This record gives sequence, structure tokens and C-alpha cells, in this order.
Amino acid sequence: MTLLAIETSCDETSVAVVRDGRALGVLVSSQVKLHSEYGGVVPELAAREHLRNLLPVARATLAAAQVRAGELDSVAATQGPGLPNALLLGFKAAQAMAFALRKPFLGVNHHEAHLYTPWINGDSMTADFDALKPNVSLIVSGGHTMLVHVKSELNHAVLGSTIDDAAGECFDKVAKLMGLPYPGGPEIDRLAAGGNPKAFDFPRPMLRDTGDDFSFSGLKTSARYFIRDHPEALADGQKLRDLCASIQAAIVEVLVVKTIRAAIRLGVHCVTASGGVTCNRALRGELEKACRREQFKLRLAAPKLCTDNAAMIGILAERMLIKGAAPVSLDADILPGWALA
Ligand code: KG4
Ligand code: ZN
Repeated sequence: MTLLAIETSCDETSVAVVRDGRALGVLVSSQVKLHSEYGGVVPELAAREHLRNLLPVARATLAAAQVRAGELDSVAATQGPGLPNALLLGFKAAQAMAFALRKPFLGVNHHEAHLYTPWINGDSMTADFDALKPNVSLIVSGGHTMLVHVKSELNHAVLGSTIDDAAGECFDKVAKLMGLPYPGGPEIDRLAAGGNPKAFDFPRPMLRDTGDDFSFSGLKTSARYFIRDHPEALADGQKLRDLCASIQAAIVEVLVVKTIRAAIRLGVHCVTASGGVTCNRALRGELEKACRREQFKLRLAAPKLCTDNAAMIGILAERMLIKGAAPVSLDADILPGWALA
């Protein structure tokens, strides 16, 4: 089966060609530079960029994969959640392509696609679903933070999610308060590498709460007060690095402790993580340490599969078709608020 997948839910225009569990070609055109000028994603600009880039990216991906459009057996796209106008561009283009080719079409949940990225080998871009074990999975992207219990392939249940800011949002908003460029997560990660994570004490929100929900807005507020009361810390290179390391340590501790606790409670011996924040080196390191201690298997999404990409959409869509998922109507609408079941 050869499938073309499109992802345009936020600020990356991405197309992949997938065949038999492997992405033969995947291209990502990132709009990060465009939006950084505004300190965050501007939805109208994102949609315009998708419109400009989608067809060139699709053509280039097909060429890279050495596949002609006529050879495609199905087409898939992200149906939600995401920015409405951004989703619309990729989803409707994919439906039009499926209509023209008279091939089945599939709409994919963006979070479900992230959820299975730890089971894709980042070098060969090949799915390794045979290795899948029941696990607790942490999804940490720019807009979402959630814990999911994956019982088996395509069989999962959300355990908890953030009641306010997502971890990625917290990284980005705190970085903005510090005057760092957008997106702030990678900047904090970079600066934190040279800082002392114990230099300043920040709250670990909901760490004692035995539920699986998260909350990061209180941590952001306490960072705001700290910056207001210690403006000199921003001008002092070492203090800035210490501040980044201390805030990062608070975010990471909450994510790791709650993930491991859920895995112990559910009796699974495997933990996975995906989404943009999974690029964070401290998060990767602390998850590794905790899983080694508990003798859990750990699967982290490869860094290039952490941020938004169409390979994860295509590989999941192919699995869904193999498992008998019904094609989605060519009249179907996008689902901007589509929550993971
Ligand atoms: O998954 P993603 O590309 O987009 C969404 O679907 O939302 O995640 C983007 C988020 C941003 O908040 C960005 O700051 C964060 O991932 N991020 C990081 C790192 N790299 C990306 N956060 C912390 N450390 C990083 N190294
Ligand atoms: Zn995402």
C-alpha cells in the first residue's frame, strides 16, 4: 500500500509518502522563522503559508519518494485538533486529491499520531509496531500535555491532561518573559545546559495530586514574579542560565514523576514520550534515569519525529487502514477541537 499524508494543523506544512510501514519521503516546511517575529503562531499567516507551500511540498515529496500520484492507493490528512484555517488547507487538499485519484481518504487525529511516534525508528523512518508493549505515554506538545494509557496498538485511553497551560506553552511563555526568542523551549533547553537546576526553587504544580492531570500556569506566574523581583538575573549570563535550568527542572520533575507514577499504578513496564517538548534534553535524561531505576522499558520519539510531521500521520493512517478503519467521507469537515478518546 502506498499512501500520501498531509499535516497542516499548526505551523508546519508537511507531506509524507508511506509504503508498508516506512516513510519513503517526508518533507517539513517550517514556519517558525515567520512567526518568531510575532512571538507566537499567527493563525491567519499560518494558513496563508500552508496555501503557498502545500503543493510544492507535496510535489517535492513525491519526487523524493520516486512515487507518481497515480501510484497512490490512499490519501490521509490531519483532521484535528489544530488551528481551523490551517487544518482546512491540508485536509481539503487531501480530500480533493483522493477524489481526483478515486482512492480512499482517511482523517487522522494529530495527538493519536504523536502517541505512536515512539514506535517509529527515526533513522530508517520505519514503524516498529511489533515491539509495542502496553505503556503509559506522555504527549507534550506546544498546546497539549497529556498522559495516555496505551493498552495495545490503536487501543488507548487518556488518563489526564493539563487543566490550563501545556508544558510547551509554559516553556514558551516563560522564555518570552525573559526576552528570549520564540519558540522559547529550545532556547531554555540550550541555556539550561550551563545552569544549576537547584539555584532557584520553583513550585512543582500538582506533583502531590495523585490524579493524572497537570497544571503549569502557577509555575509561569511564579516565574513572572521572580523576574519582576530580580530583573538583574536576566542581565547576568550565569544567573540567566541558572534561572532557565531551575524552571526547566520544575517542569521536567512534574512530567517525569507523574508519568512514572501512572505506569506503576497501572502495572505497565513501559513508558513512552512524544511531542515537541520531548526534544528537551533534561526531560529525555530524567525519563531515562527514572525508567532505569524502575526497570521500565523507555521509548522516546526520535527528535525529528517529536515536532509536527506528516510521517507520523501517514504511518498511523496506514495501520488504521490495515486494521480495517472505514474511509472518511470526502464531505467530512475538519475537527479543530477533536479530543483524543
Ligand atoms: O509538537 P510541537 O512541534 O507542536 C505542537 O503540535 O504544538 O511542539 C512545539 C513545542 C513548543 O512549545 C516548543 O517550545 C517545544 O515544543 N519544544 C521544546 C524543545 N523543543 C521544542 N521545549 C523544551 N525543550 C526543547 N528542546
Ligand atoms: Zn503536534
